[in-house]
This record gives sequence, structure tokens and C-alpha cells, in this order.
Amino acid sequence: MTWTPDLIPDQQGRTFVVTGAYGGLGQVVTSTLAARGATVVMACRDLDRARAFAQNTDGDIVVERLDLADLESVRQFADRLGELDVLINNAGLMNIPFARTADGFEMQFGVNHLGHFALTGLLLDRIADRVVSVSSISHKWIRALYIDDLQFERRRYSRSGAYAQSKLATLMFARELQHRLDRAGSPTRSYAVHPGVAPTGLVARTGTPLDLVAEPFIGLVGQSRASAARSLLFAATDRDADPATYWGPTRLLHTRGPVAATPSSSLSRDHALRQRLWEESERATGISYPIAPTATGTVHEAH
Ligand SMILES: NC(=O)c1ccc[n+]([C@@H]2O[C@H](COP(=O)([O-])OP(=O)(O)OC[C@H]3O[C@@H](n4cnc5c(N)ncnc54)[C@H](OP(=O)(O)O)[C@@H]3O)[C@@H](O)[C@H]2O)c1
Repeated sequence: MTWTPDLIPDQQGRTFVVTGAYGGLGQVVTSTLAARGATVVMACRDLDRARAFAQNTDGDIVVERLDLADLESVRQFADRLGELDVLINNAGLMNIPFARTADGFEMQFGVNHLGHFALTGLLLDRIADRVVSVSSISHKWIRALYIDDLQFERRRYSRSGAYAQSKLATLMFARELQHRLDRAGSPTRSYAVHPGVAPTGLVARTGTPLDLVAEPFIGLVGQSRASAARSLLFAATDRDADPATYWGPTRLLHTRGPVAATPSSSLSRDHALRQRLWEESERATGISYPIAPTATGTVHEAH
């Protein structure tokens, strides 16, 4: 059966935190969950934009400031937050010119991966149900993870390479988190998803003239924002969704279509590399997770 958001059960009494909640996919996720009765915390860096969206959207929506490019902002956000059911790590940047975060990380890796890694670690013992992390088809575009130079200090910066690296890291993080939660006997689950391709502001931040035409062009070849948000909503709400599966659209090279199991690169399934990325992420952010590290062993992953 094709999953659609109509199948989302009543979410009254459940709290979701959505990063980048006023972005293209974040808006769909926020309004859909709020319409099902959830309390949604919009975790965004521009409070005025977040408030404007919340005021025009039905439901119980709370606005909080979060800048994933600044670990102090991540800590302050986590300090203000209470218990939650689901964290949706959705915010992202793509193909931007070289920049560094407040903590000196390469910006795409810093926001897309390290900011969410820190946020999840700080919130983990308050998350009752699950974490959903948003990766991308582009995680398959790199053949090696330069674990000793994740911040592009000793190699030439590539916008698309940095994005692909950050999305590979996102997928590896989601899987390693699920593995560690499993081994710790925790009921909390960690899901990795991707939305396919959809016209959002993501493609218009390159600082080149292409920004003017990128979103309408993607609108011609991609799926709608509502369709792209389905994998996020499915993983965030389906009671029986398998966290060992990478969820995304299934048609036209996985750019569009119904949500189901979707392929991932062999690199993303390298358990030893995942553990090294985890250790490096803990070292870089100074955030230690409240779950025990695991021995290398058999890891169940569907794709
Ligand atoms: N659209 C696609 O085709 C596609 C494909 C594959 C994966 N994805 C993934 O889907 C997710 C959602 O992207 P989207 O397509 O909805 O793009 P979008 O419209 O550009 O939304 C991205 C959101 O992330 C926020 N963000 C960026 N930097 C941030 C920071 N430092 N702190 C907090 N929030 C920050 C943005 O807020 P500001 O406006 O304030 O910067 C924006 O709300 C991303 O993880 C993206 O990589 C999208």
C-alpha cells in the first residue's frame, strides 16, 4: 500500500521538534503534524520568519531560536527545551561558497551534520520516541570519507563535494545512532530518510546567477514539496517503520514517487568508518552521548 500523510494517526499529546521548520520541506512537515494535533517546536534561526509562518498556520506551534552554525546556540536551545517525542533533523544548506561556522567548522558539514549531531546528543535522554535525520541521494556522490580532513583544511573545497560529505555523514550518523540505541536496549529509534528532489530554497544559495533559475528548474524535474516531505513524515510517525531501512522515494532514480526502502552507498554501511566519524564528531563538538559505545560486530541494515 502507498503511504500518504492521511495515514498519520492522531498526534495529540505528542511534541515534535523540527529544525529548519520554515524551509521548503520544514513548512510541510510542521503544518501537517500540527494539523494532526501535535505540538510542533519550530527550531529556526530567524524568529520573525518563524513567527510569521506559525501565525498563519493552524495548530499548536511554538517558535524557538536555533542556529546550527553555532554550538552555543545549540546548547542554549537544548537548555530551553523540555521533553519531546520526535526530533526531526531537517535543516540544511547546499552547495554554498566556502564558509566556516562560529566554531570553525566547514559550513555545510558544520550545519548539516555537526550541528544536528550536537543537538541530538544534548536532547537524547529527553526524546521519548525517535530521531529522524534527513540525508540525500547525493550521499552517493563521494567515493571516500576524508575522516582526517572533514573540514577541508588540507584539500581543495568543492561545494557539491562538501554537501555530499555532509549528507553521507548524516546517513552514517543516523545508522550509528540506531545501532548504539539498539545495543543499549533503548526504546528510542533513529531513522535516516531522503526526500528525492523538490523545488525549495536549498538550491538557491550558491551565490551565482544560477540561483535565479534553479528552483523553477527543479520544479520541472522534481516532485512537489508535499510529496518530498512524505518520507520525513512517514519516518516521524509510522509506528511500524523499520529504523534499519533508509526511507525515500522509489521512482525515477529515487528522485520521486511513493516512500519505501531506498538504496544507500556501501560507504554509508561501513561500520568501522561510522564509528570513527562518531568519535570525530564527539571530539569536534565536545558533546558526549549518554549511551555507551559499542563493539564492532554484525550490524543489521536492510539497504
Ligand atoms: N529539496 C531537495 O530537493 C532536497 C533533496 C535532498 C535532501 N534535501 C534535504 O532536505 C532538508 C530540507 O531542505 P529544503 O529542501 O526544505 O531546503 P530549504 O527550503 O533551503 O530549507 C532549509 C532550512 O534549513 C535552515 N537552515 C539553514 N542553515 C541553518 C542554520 N545554521 N541553523 C538553523 N537552520 C538553518 C534554513 O533556514 P534559513 O532560511 O534561515 O537559512 C531553512 O529553513 C535539508 O536537510 C536538505 O539537505 C532536500
